[in-house]
Amino acid sequence: MPVLDKRLELGHLPTPLERADKLTDFLAGPRIFIKRDDATGLAGGGNKVRKLEYLAAAALEQGANCLVTVGGPQSNHARLTAAAAARLGLKCRLYLQGQAPRKLAGNILLDRLLGAELVFCGEAGYPEIYAQIDRDGARLREQGVEIYKIPVGGSTPVGALGYVRAVTEELVPQCRQAGLRPAAIIVAAGSGGTMAGLMLGLAVAGWEVPVCGYSVGPDARTLQREVADIHNGAARLLGVPHCIQPEQVCIDATPSGTGYGIATPQALEALALFARLEGILLDSVYTAKAAAGMIADIRRGRWKDEAVVFLHTGGWPALFAKDDVELWLREEGEQCR
Ligand SMILES: Cc1ncc(COP(=O)(O)O)c(C=O)c1O
Repeated sequence: MPVLDKRLELGHLPTPLERADKLTDFLAGPRIFIKRDDATGLAGGGNKVRKLEYLAAAALEQGANCLVTVGGPQSNHARLTAAAAARLGLKCRLYLQGQAPRKLAGNILLDRLLGAELVFCGEAGYPEIYAQIDRDGARLREQGVEIYKIPVGGSTPVGALGYVRAVTEELVPQCRQAGLRPAAIIVAAGSGGTMAGLMLGLAVAGWEVPVCGYSVGPDARTLQREVADIHNGAARLLGVPHCIQPEQVCIDATPSGTGYGIATPQALEALALFARLEGILLDSVYTAKAAAGMIADIRRGRWKDEAVVFLHTGGWPALFAKDDVELWLREEGEQCR
């Protein structure tokens, strides 16, 4: 498929597929494997590297010299867009919701270190920010800056190709080599592009393995619609006849708790389990919520005696900007005394 070749090499790929034996023993359910996309290499790694390999290639093809994207203040996607731009010698402008912080920490510190220009957008929603980007883009063009606008999370059909490739070139061969046919692939779902790419990749590979998306904030119906749209758009790009309906997208929104960015007790427990049993760092916004969803399902007896693959999508830099894990650890310390 020539469309899958239209990428730039930005990440350390393939990432390993590892057994999580201590977590498996602790939960006494299915065998758990972890696909380590937290180890994609670029500036702290994470799932967005794979999307950016395709998005940055499209930007260069269009003659852009500046990558622009949007996100929350601690956006991992924004950090990795800044890193991709630095690697490629492009400018980068990040439009972040919220106010300029008094102290640089976590992803924002890294954004600045990577040379991105930050624009703080206060309470503005994404449609308003996209309009501002278009206005700024027209002004910048007069100064010789050609922007390439990447929507939130890099979740476009082009970005999703990164996960089609991850499945066809890495995950399926790695599973086959390990003699493994997973009962499910588990992923955190935010803007939906990762899940869409996974589903399409499995369809292209002819593997009927369900993808279980655990929402980190959005309601299930919204995510189902978004994932289906991105999936179908990416299928059109590839010229493959796989079209899905929103109802075919399996989303559990329970682990999102009271909303995006607000850690749940279950997510904090999952974060500690991965750290202490496997030496693996999750983050409280995305991966710990997905892990909490997986653990809750395992405790209910789901996938018993089967195997599952947890896609670790990265995100640890945000641990250094939020106080939720610190508060949880302090509380735990008090209980120990
Ligand atoms: C660490 C991490 N995991 C998962 C996701 C969700 O991926 P997607 O937006 O493709 O659903 C994100 C998105 O920002 C992320 O940063």
